[in-house]
Amino acid sequence: MLPDPARIEEAVELLRAGELVAFPTETVYGLGADASNPWAVAKIFAAKGRPAGHPLIVHVSGIEAARPWVAGFPDAAKRLAEAFWPGPLTLVLPKAAAVSPSVTGGQDSIAVRAPAHPVARALLAAFGGGIAAPSANRYGRISPTRAADVREELGNRVALVLEGGDCEVGLESTIVACLGGGVRLLRRGAISRSQLQDVVGKVADADARSPRAPGSDRSHYAPGTPLSIIAPGKLQAEVENSLAAGERLAVLACSDAPRQSPLLTWRCLGFEPFEYGHSLYAALRDLDRLGAARILVECVPDGEDWEAIADRLARAAARGETPAAEDAVTDAT
Ligand code: TXA
Ligand code: MG
Repeated sequence: MLPDPARIEEAVELLRAGELVAFPTETVYGLGADASNPWAVAKIFAAKGRPAGHPLIVHVSGIEAARPWVAGFPDAAKRLAEAFWPGPLTLVLPKAAAVSPSVTGGQDSIAVRAPAHPVARALLAAFGGGIAAPSANRYGRISPTRAADVREELGNRVALVLEGGDCEVGLESTIVACLGGGVRLLRRGAISRSQLQDVVGKVADADARSPRAPGSDRSHYAPGTPLSIIAPGKLQAEVENSLAAGERLAVLACSDAPRQSPLLTWRCLGFEPFEYGHSLYAALRDLDRLGAARILVECVPDGEDWEAIADRLARAAARGETPAAEDAVTDAT
């Protein structure tokens, strides 16, 4: 979807006035504010109901525009940005001294990303500065991948929602920390570890010394309906049990429905991981609206291209569990 110049201009004026503007990216919709204005950034936390201290991603048009926000571009980060920007990759780098702690959650690192969506690019080009933006959902809920989902999440808490169609990737960006020499994968996304390693060699997992989002909580990021992940071989029996108990049931699966029932809503997302990832959040939102007793999700196949999806599904299923302290980065935000 192409940017509408009049809407972009309106969005820029609102950002300059310290207001919030939601905008599409290729991953999910973001809730943007002028990253250099701490009062505007504070509005993001209020609109989302997000605890203060959770760091935000600063969106920029490219490497040059990122420079004022970072203390430097380590060689690995530069190579990754050259390879994958604009695109679904966020880099966590040492922060520039002047960056407001409201953006970084008081950490000494900062997350930067150049998104690829044409509307986001037009907005960043016209605005000129950095736009701080988390996913445009209320805290703990599923990231929006459609403009209508943003309106449902935030209503009049946001001054303007820029239309950009359905987000192509549909899952949040891959996050990589380039701090103190090593390269670490903090959040899985459309850009796989292999793709990163093709550019920079070894990419390790987050460890105890990696930056953490305060309040990391594995149990966030979920629909309201209880969700369970079921092995493919057990799905049919689970469905029959639920239907026999008279339960309204929603199923999200790679495979087609084995049977029909007025109590059963079955969404088949297929066996192609990029198509599945693109449709996942919209499907979960739609299923969540049915008032079903449960959402059953057929376990997705193994393989690197499914890892980001399996990660998000595990989080959606973990609702109500106690927070997992080891999580380096939460997607709840
Ligand atoms: O695809 C995306 O990344 C979307 C679009 C809008 O760009 N944004 C997004 O933002 O998912 P958010 O705030 O929902 O998730 C960003 C994650 C959070 O878990 C946050 O804690 C982490 O990035 N993060 C941000 N700055 C960080 C830092 N300096 N160190 C470690 N984690 C950081
Ligand atoms: Mg988020």
